[in-house]
Amino acid sequence: MTECMLWNHEIVERKPENALVSFEDRGYQFGDGVYEVIRIYDGKFHVLDWHLDRLFYSMEQLAIRPPFTRTEIKELLKRLVAQNNFTADGKLYLQVTRGMQPRDHVYDEELDAIFYATVNKFDQPLEKWENGVRVTLQEDIRWLRCDIKSLNLLGNVLARTKAQRNGFYEPLFYRDGMVRECGASNFYMIKDGTIHTHPANNYILGGITRKKVIKLASELDIPVVEEMFSVEELQEADECFLTATPMEVVPVTHIDENQVGSHTVGPVTRQLQQYYRKRVYDDLE
Ligand SMILES: Cc1ncc(COP(=O)(O)O)c(C=O)c1O
Repeated sequence: MTECMLWNHEIVERKPENALVSFEDRGYQFGDGVYEVIRIYDGKFHVLDWHLDRLFYSMEQLAIRPPFTRTEIKELLKRLVAQNNFTADGKLYLQVTRGMQPRDHVYDEELDAIFYATVNKFDQPLEKWENGVRVTLQEDIRWLRCDIKSLNLLGNVLARTKAQRNGFYEPLFYRDGMVRECGASNFYMIKDGTIHTHPANNYILGGITRKKVIKLASELDIPVVEEMFSVEELQEADECFLTATPMEVVPVTHIDENQVGSHTVGPVTRQLQQYYRKRVYDDLE
């Protein structure tokens, strides 16, 4: 654990008594807030601007008043890493809640948002990168604004817990017969050399890793189709993989009890995974 944390505009010693939350914080009462998880490599942030774009988008969609400017939060996050002398690989967690108010669904427009950030060491998931993971199909019971990175994650919490209790790494959500994404990652299938993934709309979170993978695939001349595909079409996949900030590119070997394609880990997935590994060091600040 690191020694300092960001609590509103100050860097304080990382102790619970230094960052007390009121029982009337709307994040506590309603999950009324947003968050980001940003990967750190060698003490530097990966694609920080893309994460801040999404954070400001999430706040705007929920009409949360940003408690900082983009320049201010960048400076604060960099100071946090520096003050922790953090030069390792890790993850930054940043959350913003709408603020404090006597409990009422209807929010006051003038609230001062409350935020904190912590930095944690993160070991590379070598075993998952090498051997892949299993996912299990589950009906998507989440709300219809999955594009907002909201704190309100009950649908994901229930689904991921059920999946992991049953020996799967992730639930693979479907809605109306169409494959959407996983509980905390985006999902892709490869068919005849083309990558298929759900369009970035309200049914999924527009992943930052997804955005980078699409860019890298184009550099490798691997076609990407951002269109929905059905659970039936998924059965014909040659390869599958998932992406998320902490995990990068992880092969999916099984969907429920069925092996994907004829390889344990397919060649296109491996190529992309290795290229992604190499290219994370290009976008650090
Ligand atoms: C539901 C969901 N989809 C996709 C992702 C992947 O997003 P990113 O690549 O920005 O980490 C996440 C990450 O937490 C997620 O929670």
